[in-house]
Amino acid sequence: MNYKTLILQTKSLFEGEKRFLPNSANFCSLLFNSLEDLNWVGFYLFDGEQLVLGPFMGKPACIHIGINKGVCGTSFEKNKTLVIDDVHEFPGHISCDSASNSELVIPFNYNGNQLGVFDIDSPIKNRFSLEDKNNLEKLLNIFIENTNLPNKGYLI
Ligand code: SME
Repeated sequence: MNYKTLILQTKSLFEGEKRFLPNSANFCSLLFNSLEDLNWVGFYLFDGEQLVLGPFMGKPACIHIGINKGVCGTSFEKNKTLVIDDVHEFPGHISCDSASNSELVIPFNYNGNQLGVFDIDSPIKNRFSLEDKNNLEKLLNIFIENTNLPNKGYLI
C-alpha cells in the first residue's frame, strides 16, 4: 500500500475514539498488515525507569528494555529516530525475533513528555529508506494528534 492511502486510512481509523489502548492496538495492526516485509510493529512504553512492552503485532517480544539498551533504549535515550540497516551490526541490539534484520525506532513523545518508542522490524536488511522514515514519523504523529496522551507521567 502506498503512504498516501495509508495516511488516509490512519486518519479514519481514529474517528470517534481517542483512548490510547484501542487506537494504539489498531495503529499497530494497520501498519503491520499494510506495509510489506515487516515482522514486528509495536510500542515500548517508559514507566519512569525502563521501557516496557506495549501494544504490538508480531511474535511475543522482550518485556523490559533498559533506556540505554538495544536500538529501542538508544533511540529513547537520544530522543532520536534510528534507522538500522543491519541489526546484527548494531552493538547491543536485542534480538527478540530472530527473523529481524533491519529496524526503525521512532521516539514516542507528547508535548515534550517522553512516553516511549515506536518500533518496526523487518526480516529484510536495508528495508527502511528515508521515505519510509519520514512517512512513518508522519503516521506516528497522526496517531499522537488523535489520541489522548498525558503531558506528564506515564502510560504504564
Ligand atoms: N530489537 C529491539 C528490541 C525490541 S524487538 O525488536 C521487538 C532493540 O534492540 O531494542
